[in-house]
Amino acid sequence: MKFGYFDDQNREYVIQTPQTPFPWINYLGNKDFFGLISNTAGGYNFYKDARLRRLTRFRYNNVPVDDGGRYYYIKDGNTVWNPGYKPCKTELDDYECRHGLGYTRITSAKNGVSASLLAFIPLDYNGEINHLTLKNTSMETKHIQLFSLREWCLWDASDDMLNFQRNFSTGQVEVKDSVIYHKTEYRERRNHYAFFSVNAKIDGFDSQLEDFMGMYNGFDAPQAVLAGQATNSVADGWQPCASHQINVTLLPDEEKSFIFVLGYVEVPVEDKWESPHVINKKPALQMIDQFSTDGQVERAFVTLASYWERLLRLYRVEIDDEKTARMVNIWNPYQCMVTFNMSRSASYFESGVGRGLGFRDSSQDLLGFVHQIPERARERILDIASTQFRDGGCYHQYQPLTKKGNNDIGGGFNDDPLWLIAGTAAYIKETGDFSILNEKTPYDSNPKDTGTLLEHLTASFNHVVENKGPHGLPLIGRADWNDCLNLNCHSTEPGQSFQTYGTADGRVAESVLIAGMFVAIGPELVELYRRKGLDSKAREAREEIEKMRKTVLEHGYDGEWFLRAYDAFGEKIGSKECEEGKIFIESQGYCVMAGIGVEDGRALKALNSVRDILECDHGIVIQQPAYQTYHSNLGECSSYPPGYKENAGIFCHNNPWIMIAETKIGRGDRAFDLYRKICPAYREDISDLHRMEPYVYSQMIAGKDAGRMGEAKNSWLTGTAAWNFVAISQAILGIKPEYDGLRVDPCIPSLWGEYKVTRVFREAIYEIHVTNPDNVQKGVRSVTVDGKPIEGNVLPVLEAGTKHIVEVIMG
Ligand code: BGC
Repeated sequence: MKFGYFDDQNREYVIQTPQTPFPWINYLGNKDFFGLISNTAGGYNFYKDARLRRLTRFRYNNVPVDDGGRYYYIKDGNTVWNPGYKPCKTELDDYECRHGLGYTRITSAKNGVSASLLAFIPLDYNGEINHLTLKNTSMETKHIQLFSLREWCLWDASDDMLNFQRNFSTGQVEVKDSVIYHKTEYRERRNHYAFFSVNAKIDGFDSQLEDFMGMYNGFDAPQAVLAGQATNSVADGWQPCASHQINVTLLPDEEKSFIFVLGYVEVPVEDKWESPHVINKKPALQMIDQFSTDGQVERAFVTLASYWERLLRLYRVEIDDEKTARMVNIWNPYQCMVTFNMSRSASYFESGVGRGLGFRDSSQDLLGFVHQIPERARERILDIASTQFRDGGCYHQYQPLTKKGNNDIGGGFNDDPLWLIAGTAAYIKETGDFSILNEKTPYDSNPKDTGTLLEHLTASFNHVVENKGPHGLPLIGRADWNDCLNLNCHSTEPGQSFQTYGTADGRVAESVLIAGMFVAIGPELVELYRRKGLDSKAREAREEIEKMRKTVLEHGYDGEWFLRAYDAFGEKIGSKECEEGKIFIESQGYCVMAGIGVEDGRALKALNSVRDILECDHGIVIQQPAYQTYHSNLGECSSYPPGYKENAGIFCHNNPWIMIAETKIGRGDRAFDLYRKICPAYREDISDLHRMEPYVYSQMIAGKDAGRMGEAKNSWLTGTAAWNFVAISQAILGIKPEYDGLRVDPCIPSLWGEYKVTRVFREAIYEIHVTNPDNVQKGVRSVTVDGKPIEGNVLPVLEAGTKHIVEVIMG
């Protein structure tokens, strides 16, 4: 069952009912100022950091889940309704929500009035525009009252939820003309405030939530709205909010529009005040001035659209498969941008207060994002590197606002360092910018202690070399990519964090995944050394990688598949000898991606085992058999009920590792089949089961042991976005950036006859037409560039600004 449809022409997903199986959301904003918006106009805003600079509230654990947001109430006689259906849930005569790239437009109608609410954040603007248009479609004159509502968060979203004894006394606002300013804590240490404005004369306002709402009413029945009259309350402690009242008269056919701006302002300390106790409003008024007419809004909206148009032109496929095309050309790169911006901080599953940017998460996000805005990828790489320690270890997470490592979680996740090498290599391949390697970057955010990025990468590599266990495999530390495989934790008391409790430096538990990553990612560093003329370093590193490859074959292979790990007692995990958790997905993916066992059939066997044991209709589960009981030697993964999350859920993040691994051994049919299974556009038809947005990937789909098999959770912020983009664009469609050019090496279903990819690479345009006359899955017979045959299948770097026609014949 579907709840909407894809409008590919307009690059929108069109939701046709407000009652989706879960709030289906979108993201607004691209750089510093962001908003989350659901299909019923729920959601919140923040500046840079969802925890430390939260502008508006989200109420966690709410009933229903998505209450609070950018609400507009229309009181038309005795009927009160909202353009986004919620919170009044008055039945609408018409409803449609279009989530587009960086904007959402909800249109609806009730009793002869139609409303269109367009929400977006203009480029380089720290504010959200809500362009609300009301039209009288009836034959009579309408006298309606319009009320807006935003609820202020007292900046620190965590404190805002917890510290009421303080919060209820600190809230402060100012109201002037049609603008409500939120200035809590501005009188002391903050030099920022927020505002909510409208470009119309108002007939009343409220800024104290209780006065607007009434002590015993909810969002669906605010007292002021029911009474048709705002109370002009000025918040003094308690819960500050911002609500405008505008009385609107509409003649038949008449249309009126309003521009609401929710903005964020920083003021230099010396200019904080306009007069004693009165905030300096100049910067806010300037922002408001930028969007006081419909024309200004329309222009900014067009600019936003052309921005996306330009980004999406960088990789475009034309293929006789509309679902793949819409994912590759629109939604997958869009999700990559969002995950790059948010990391795992703010979604309808990530509270925005728990995690900042993750070292491994952000490094992997780069893989899918780097072609879009390489300058920002560059900055991100250097930010991530500066949270690394001299010994190559690193903070697991850091706060986007301060860019400093997060002490609560600390470090000791031994896969983290390697991802930095992977992210940097992807950046250099995309851009050819080797200069990044010479950038001096702090260790542990200490500007006095720096090393070049290349030194950081060396430290990453050596961190593995210097931290091996009894079998010569890498020590796992607190966990590797699977944050819930906590082999040094052994927790038996509830409340102990699986990630931070226990022996951080366990010298026994080893990870075959990290070993596979080392063999797959290490050669990138070898190549960088070589290109820098550091031949002896390159040789030494190559030897270490070779040693690890042998170790994996000797101690990390279990007959039919790769082992997953050794626990702190030296016992095998992910082995046929285990009763549960006999086989895990991660090491099969990474070891085969590293090429381990490809020549002698061990890789093939491993992938067949994945197919036979781990795969189901909805994708590949993380391990089998699921753990039925809690095992303290394994940690959090066994704490989940069977079939969910890291206990045999379908973790979409590492399904693409298997897709890519399949392309390593030439099985394009298998790779694409796996791609389809978790691909949101392909799952759209089962939206009632899947439940999450059909336009973006979710982190997890419940696996075959779960009571709710096939149901997804944790949509949007997941490395799945980046890895699926890599799998489809580079491994399957086969257009892969390399240091000296673009490799064309498709591995596709044998039935595909042809497709075309237009790829902008180092500013030259390559129009690559692939044909498959013999219906093979892999192999390139010939390549011509502008009609001339070339040796091999790496397209040379061509002059920026030029366009070239490439013909690739498979066979
Ligand atoms: C985390 C990742 C982790 C994955 C698997 C995600 O929620 O963001 O860092 O690798 O789960 O445990």
